[in-house]
Amino acid sequence: MTASEVPTARSVITVTRRLPPAVEARLTAMFDVRLNSTDVPLDAVALSRAMASSDAMITTLGDPLHAATLHAATLPGSSAVRTKLIAHFGVGYDNIDITVARELGITVTNTPGVLTDDTADLAMLLMLATARRAGEAERELRAGDWSGWHPTHLLGTRVSGKTLGIVGFGRIGRAVAARARDGFGMRVLAWSRSLTQPQANDAGVTRCATIEALLASSDFVSVHVPSTHHTRHLINGERLSRMRPGAFLINTSRGDVVDESALVAALRAGAIAGAGLDVFEGEPAVRPELLQLPNAVLLPHIGSATHETRTAMGMLAVDNLEAFFAGHEVPNRVA
Ligand code: GLV
Repeated sequence: MTASEVPTARSVITVTRRLPPAVEARLTAMFDVRLNSTDVPLDAVALSRAMASSDAMITTLGDPLHAATLHAATLPGSSAVRTKLIAHFGVGYDNIDITVARELGITVTNTPGVLTDDTADLAMLLMLATARRAGEAERELRAGDWSGWHPTHLLGTRVSGKTLGIVGFGRIGRAVAARARDGFGMRVLAWSRSLTQPQANDAGVTRCATIEALLASSDFVSVHVPSTHHTRHLINGERLSRMRPGAFLINTSRGDVVDESALVAALRAGAIAGAGLDVFEGEPAVRPELLQLPNAVLLPHIGSATHETRTAMGMLAVDNLEAFFAGHEVPNRVA
C-alpha cells in the first residue's frame, strides 16, 4: 500500500500553529485537517477541546499540555481521550506531561535529527556574536554612533583555538563539537550524565568527569541538555561561579536549564564575560535585566528556524501521523 492509499482521509487532525506551506499541503491532502489560520496560540481550554474533538494533534513547544489540560480532554464518563497521537513538532517535548499522556493511552512523537545542524550552527553564531560583540557593534552602527575605524574600537575575544565545554552530548552537542573542533581549531571538552570514555574518544573530545571540571576549564560553555526535573537550573549560581572570569555561556537548549537570575548577577558582576541565549525561562517574556546587559546576545528561540529545517520537522511529524494511522509503529515515539 502506498502512502497515498493509506485509509486516513477521515482522521481529524488539529494543528496548533501555522506550518510551512508544503507541510500544510501534505496534511490537507491526507487528513481532515483543522489548521490554525490565525497562528494565535491555543489556550488550555482550546487545547483540551481540540484534543477531545480530534484523532491526533500536531503541537509545538508553545502548547502547554500539562496534566490538567490532558485530563480535561477526556470524554464525558470516560478516562479516554479522542486524540490518540500527539505528533509534536520539535525535538524537546518538555511542554507535554508524558506520564499522563501515557496513562491516557496517547502516543507521543517528536522530530529529532532534522534540526541538529541548524541548531548547532546557531550555537556557533551565538558564540561568535558574544565573543566578537556583534550585537553591540550593530546597535552602535544603526544608532549612527560609529565614528570610524580605530585600533581600540569594540575589541572582543578570539574564538579560534580556545576551549569549548559542551554540557550534554547528544546529537546537537556532538554537532557543535565537530564545528568547533574542525572549523575553529577549538579544544572540546564534554560532560553529560551518560557520556562514556569510548564515546568521547570516538567524537574526538575530552570527557570531563564532572560538570564543575568542565566549567572551570572552558573559555566557552555551550548547553545542550533537554529540560527535565534533573536539568532545571543545572547551571545555577554556584556553577556559574566555577566558570572562568573571561568565559562565555551559550544556551540554545531550554531556558530553565540556566538559573537566569543567577546569570544576570554573574554578568553584572563581570564574573563571566558574556552570554548568548536563544531560550529563556519565561519565554516569550524576557527578563528586563537581561535586555539591559550589553554583554548578552539575545535571540527569540530561532535555533531550528530555517525554511529547510522547519519543513523537514513538519514532514517528520506527518510521517509519524501517517505511520500511526496506517497501523505501523511510529518512527519517533517518545511515549
Ligand atoms: C526547539 O526548541 C525544539 O525543541 O525543537
